[in-house]
Amino acid sequence: MVEDLRLDSLEGVGPVTTRKLSDAGVHNVMDLIVRGPVEIASITGMEKDTAEKIVEKARQHLVEGGVIASHFTSATEIYKHRQSIGKITTGTNCLDTLFDGGVETQALTEVYGEFGCGKTQFAHTMSVMVQKSKEEGGLDGSVLYIDTENTFRPERIVSIAKAHDMDPEKVLDRIIVARAYNSSHQILILEESGPVIEENNVKLIVADSAVGLFRAEYLGRGTLSVRQQKLNHFVHLLSRIAETYNCAAIATNQVMASPDVFFGDPTRPIGGNVVAHTSTYRIYFKKSGKKRIARMVDSPHHPEEEVIFALGEAGVIDLEDADKKTTKKATIKKTTKKATKKTKDLEVESTVETPEVEATVESTVETPEVEATVESTVETPEVEATVETPEVEATVETPEVEATVESTVETPEVDATAEIETDDF
Ligand SMILES: Nc1ncnc2c1ncn2[C@@H]1O[C@H](COP(=O)(O)OP(=O)(O)OP(=O)(O)O)[C@@H](O)[C@H]1O
Ligand SMILES: [Mg+2]
Repeated sequence: MVEDLRLDSLEGVGPVTTRKLSDAGVHNVMDLIVRGPVEIASITGMEKDTAEKIVEKARQHLVEGGVIASHFTSATEIYKHRQSIGKITTGTNCLDTLFDGGVETQALTEVYGEFGCGKTQFAHTMSVMVQKSKEEGGLDGSVLYIDTENTFRPERIVSIAKAHDMDPEKVLDRIIVARAYNSSHQILILEESGPVIEENNVKLIVADSAVGLFRAEYLGRGTLSVRQQKLNHFVHLLSRIAETYNCAAIATNQVMASPDVFFGDPTRPIGGNVVAHTSTYRIYFKKSGKKRIARMVDSPHHPEEEVIFALGEAGVIDLEDADKKTTKKATIKKTTKKATKKTKDLEVESTVETPEVEATVESTVETPEVEATVESTVETPEVEATVETPEVEATVETPEVEATVESTVETPEVDATAEIETDDF
């Protein structure tokens, strides 16, 4: 490995050029490669020829140091190089199978799908898993999390870390969150990320969502080409950083309905071809009731296949683990039914005396399922009563309990089931 990545370690690069480059946000030899000669010339005002020479020197420096491959490489060498690619376990058997071991470094993995399909949950899970030791399937690395939609939740990181027997405080410490406020800021964060990646041993970069801000800012057909150009710059930069710094990159992307599709799934990723062409791997997440389907859509070496997974406290989880939980919940459901019956007798007293509804509202914060309960509880005195019983605490954790609660009230059971299946919280 090259020890010296300082710009002035390159022959012919003196203090003046170094300052010019630093002022433009190019801090080391890696950055020169990541940005490329055209961009270097445009951001520093250098002649294109000079920029090309400097970037070429940087390339040679990194080839000599074994960081990047030279122009002409034998397939054996590439094969060897690929052996050194790191893989991060997803913490599930099914997604690890889909990814053939885990999410790869030196590659851009795009995850796309409709709202609520689990893209952010997946990004959170990977932010924890990358920190595991190599023996446990991680890369013992840190995370750069570019949050463009303000959906990064440290609380989720804590529960995922706990579920994987990791120290939540240490895990939080190793996630560097960059909140991007607009698309230019999002690009700037990435352009400036070199030293952060280097100093913190970042092994995973998340862009959640990669496309949202571009989409929000460039509306209408007239702005489409500028938007795609900027987005193109962002995803290329992300992909080059992943390659140069040997880290994994995950970009999330929503889908929109395309009315012109008559057969198959009428949705397509918003980023369109730009993201698709740049990403090495593309995964499509789809909701199917409580379950989630993940499909490997585009990969140079994976077969196109599908697996079923679920979402839980531990982030993305195997279906078996979700089923295990359901069995547990079923037991709780029985107890709760009894509790509800009991509370019916106490109905009048309890509704008058206690403002228990507040307690229910607090507990909904962590579990999206409970929100549904809250809506129904507002209308019905019985629900207030159920809150009073200790057993009802158990209901807060389980979606089935909502069904129970609702059924004890006025709504027919059919509604309750429908609600669970649509999974729209
Ligand atoms: N603690 C939790 N336990 C179980 N499931 C959870 C938990 N937190 C969130 N979820 C599930 O995750 C879903 C939301 O997923 P997520 O936020 O990853 O969606 P997304 O694909 O990022 O959507 P968007 O496109 O809106 O950003 C919720 O509908 C819920 O089913
Ligand atoms: Mg999201």
